[in-house]
Amino acid sequence: MKIIESPEKTREEVWPEASAITGIGDHWGIPLVFGVCTDRAPFYLVLQFHTLRSESVTLFKAASEKVIQDVAMCADILKQTCEILMFIHERGFLHNELKSNNVVIDGSENKPVIIDFGKSCKIVKARLRKPKVNIEKSMNKFPHIRHRKNIAVKGSPSLATCSHLAIWLR
Ligand SMILES: Nc1ncnc2c1ncn2[C@@H]1O[C@H](COP(=O)(O)OP(=O)(O)OP(=O)(O)O)[C@@H](O)[C@H]1O
Ligand SMILES: [Mg+2]
Repeated sequence: MKIIESPEKTREEVWPEASAITGIGDHWGIPLVFGVCTDRAPFYLVLQFHTLRSESVTLFKAASEKVIQDVAMCADILKQTCEILMFIHERGFLHNELKSNNVVIDGSENKPVIIDFGKSCKIVKARLRKPKVNIEKSMNKFPHIRHRKNIAVKGSPSLATCSHLAIWLR
């Protein structure tokens, strides 16, 4: 267990993050919440600390430092990440900031764990915003996803992407 302090965290940020994690409920792919401190600064959350060889290893780090050894391991981690995300969605929440730095690898079984629920919210309270990225430009930059432009997306885009990925990887 480790206490992660963030100097920028305010009292108003700590509670929603803790309530999102506890609201989603128990899952091996989500850290347990042991406590919150909002009594006095520094405000913090106490979470289950997932490690690989005694340190926190994000998916970004795992990919860039060759911890992920082959395509099979990569596909397995991606599939499990999709399954965790589907669980989050089924429980009525959105993560809203899924990226390689917000997934850590738990070394006990080389399983991914989704972290950082600071931007998470209930699906019923979600509001669609105009994307900040230029979709056409991104399609040119990432041609491997270009053909998915016309996938019909009802509800959250990440929900649809996650479901498609999970089906493809089965
Ligand atoms: N439960 C956890 N288990 C292991 N490592 C964790 C855990 N929570 C956070 N970390 C580590 O701490 C780093 C920062 O945590 P987190 O993403 O929650 O904070 P942040 O303030 O949003 O940072 P960032 O702006 O980089 O996303 C993560 O990249 C990860 O390495
Ligand atoms: Mg983060």
